[in-house]
Amino acid sequence: MNSRSIKVLSVLGAATLMLAACAAPRPAAQPAEAPKDQPAAPAGGEIKVAILAPLSGPVPTFGVSTRDGALLAIEEWNARGGVNGMKIVPIVEDSQCTPDPAVNAANKVIDQDGVKFIIGEVCSSASIPISEIANAKKVLQISPTSTNPGVTVGSDGAVKPYTFRACFIDPFQGQVAAKFALDTLKVRTAFIMLDQANDYVRGLAEFFEKSFTEGGGQIVGKETYTGKDTDFSAILSKVAEARPDMVYLPDYYNIVNLVTKQAKEKGLTMPFMGGDGWDSSDLDNAAADGGYFTNHYSSEDTRPEVAAFIKAYGAKYEGKVPDALAVLAYDAANILLESIKAAGTADDTDKVRAAMSAINFNGVSGNVTFDANNNPVKSAVVLQVKDGKVVYNSTVNP
Ligand code: PHE
Repeated sequence: MNSRSIKVLSVLGAATLMLAACAAPRPAAQPAEAPKDQPAAPAGGEIKVAILAPLSGPVPTFGVSTRDGALLAIEEWNARGGVNGMKIVPIVEDSQCTPDPAVNAANKVIDQDGVKFIIGEVCSSASIPISEIANAKKVLQISPTSTNPGVTVGSDGAVKPYTFRACFIDPFQGQVAAKFALDTLKVRTAFIMLDQANDYVRGLAEFFEKSFTEGGGQIVGKETYTGKDTDFSAILSKVAEARPDMVYLPDYYNIVNLVTKQAKEKGLTMPFMGGDGWDSSDLDNAAADGGYFTNHYSSEDTRPEVAAFIKAYGAKYEGKVPDALAVLAYDAANILLESIKAAGTADDTDKVRAAMSAINFNGVSGNVTFDANNNPVKSAVVLQVKDGKVVYNSTVNP
């Protein structure tokens, strides 16, 4: 007998035992209770949860993955009977990774739909204005993926009590990139390209520069562009002249695709490196080939939580492999719903945020406890674009 048939037999044995247990007479005091092994229908009430994500605009894959990851978590909770007997009703709005549409979406879900909980946004430049509204209106916000420090802490240094996130922050991400560049790629000089108007890009460029120079590296050029630019040849000519060992380009995949393609056409061969913004099924792997980026998760991670999530996500979304955005949106939704459950209320957001502050949650992207700035402390991975694919390189712990 091979090991597989032994397993099947033992499963059958367990099922027989369970059937026997079910057949045993129930104590008379509990006749109305639903059988424990069937999903309970939510007993009463609803909890509206907004998902604000960039479904259109410059980075639509970010929005689709975020929505799909959050919806999977909500579906699983509802199948288990909801949160404290209440059904979770998702309200999805397209906030476009852009401040004005993000503000409109936040006002709409709060003022018209009456939500008290927001998952979102993805992009720091959209999450920051949403956080101002959420904190003014005591709406609890958790951004799955916005990594700029200013999302949870105001420019005055005060923590925003109603805003949390499920990801690490960019001082850490920039440091991981700089250390990897210096220690693993052994580069000594870097050229930085950045969009000053994008909070995430500006911040990550600054944190990389700080760590890179502190570690002995030298910045041999720094040029800015705008998010509307499509022709980067003038900057790339300066890169060619400066001959850096690498180029740091911490922008989103739409810009990365344009820049790396034009760099290859110009014959530039030094590696490009970026951050989580490169993570997209629409990253041009041929153009970005040879590049590296820091990220929150790798689908090659062998932890059982990751394998289970990849399976559930693939089953719901036609075999799609989840990216970091899907994983973090799933974790963010679970953190929120666990916090509502622990607080025992979906009305009092002060109680829910207190529960969130105290949470210890084992997510797909790692374990989450919040520090005094409402940020989790988590590890990062470095991924490489190689032979048309994105492959795992290494993990860096804080
Ligand atoms: N960290 C980015 C930001 O703050 C968003 C992002 C996260 C994009 C993860 C892709 C993957 O704007």
